[in-house]
Amino acid sequence: MRAVDGVSFDIAAGERRGVVGESGSGKSVTAMSIMRLIEPPAGEIVTGTIDFQGTNLLAMPEDDMQDVRGGKIAMIFQDPMTSLNPVYTIGDQLMETIMLHQHVNKHDARDIAAQALDDVHIPGPQTVLDDYPHQFSGGMRQRVMIAMGLSCNPDLLIADEPTTALDVTTQAQIMDLMLQLAADRGTAVMLITHDLGVVAGFCDTIQVMYAGGIVESGTAQEIFGDPQHPYTWGLLGSMTRLDESHAERLHSVRGAPPSLINPPRGCRFNPRCDFVQDICRASYPALRTSGGDDQLAACHFAVDLDLKTIDVREGSTT
Ligand SMILES: Nc1ncnc2c1ncn2[C@@H]1O[C@H](COP(=O)(O)OP(=O)(O)O)[C@@H](O)[C@H]1O
Ligand SMILES: [Mg+2]
Repeated sequence: MRAVDGVSFDIAAGERRGVVGESGSGKSVTAMSIMRLIEPPAGEIVTGTIDFQGTNLLAMPEDDMQDVRGGKIAMIFQDPMTSLNPVYTIGDQLMETIMLHQHVNKHDARDIAAQALDDVHIPGPQTVLDDYPHQFSGGMRQRVMIAMGLSCNPDLLIADEPTTALDVTTQAQIMDLMLQLAADRGTAVMLITHDLGVVAGFCDTIQVMYAGGIVESGTAQEIFGDPQHPYTWGLLGSMTRLDESHAERLHSVRGAPPSLINPPRGCRFNPRCDFVQDICRASYPALRTSGGDDQLAACHFAVDLDLKTIDVREGSTT
């Protein structure tokens, strides 16, 4: 089964990229591939390149990759309880990362760790260092994970559903905090979420993933203001909005994502699409310019719309 296939994108230094799509669309596999955490027998990176600051990570010796992982690229996972080791103190775990990547002694590592906890607004960081993960609430543990992720000043922070396990109020606080800290340090962020609402206002650019591929990408304005792909429309329709004058019924995308073992022929979204035409069942739409300057969409229909606009502008009647 191809969990992701033909996925290609760039993230610039300091950029905030949102990656959205339903569960199973390949978001985590994409992130884990960048970190080179896809390993047999669970999975395999068959082909492709992952260029990071001019080096192909897939060709790098494992020793060098260990410096990149946690040092230049950090990753925060959905459930902090599975990433934090329950039998070691918060301090031990933070200091281990710091000593490994910053080559400092234990004493200095402790100071850096305390500062990192202070940065994420954890009160009494010096004493907290001697506490165990179970002594914290979910939100606090996720703050610790952010502190750990940012403690080595990575150039890229990959946050995979960092707030999905938290309640809504805590979600907003954690997201604000994480993005503020990243902005202060000039860290690029790849924020993965199944919730388009979470990336609104937080991200510069957005890519929408479906069934192992990118179906649409562009700036946040383009994606929210003029979405080209019916799947993106569907995701937007299922978002709660405060600016709707009366309680509108929320639309959801009907059906369920396809099995990647035997994906549909043509456009992978066609069995769920309200606008499906014969061509959608026959051929796979390539990702191409559609809508705004930086916008790409993988939809036959979106491209048709675009051509029509050009035709009208040129005075053609066809
Ligand atoms: N270790 C694994 N073994 C088998 N299938 C996997 C594994 N990890 C992910 N997958 C499959 O790869 C696809 C993409 O998964 P994933 O990237 O986790 O989705 P997302 O993060 O978008 O929810 C899914 O169909 C999932 O079932
Ligand atoms: Mg995931």
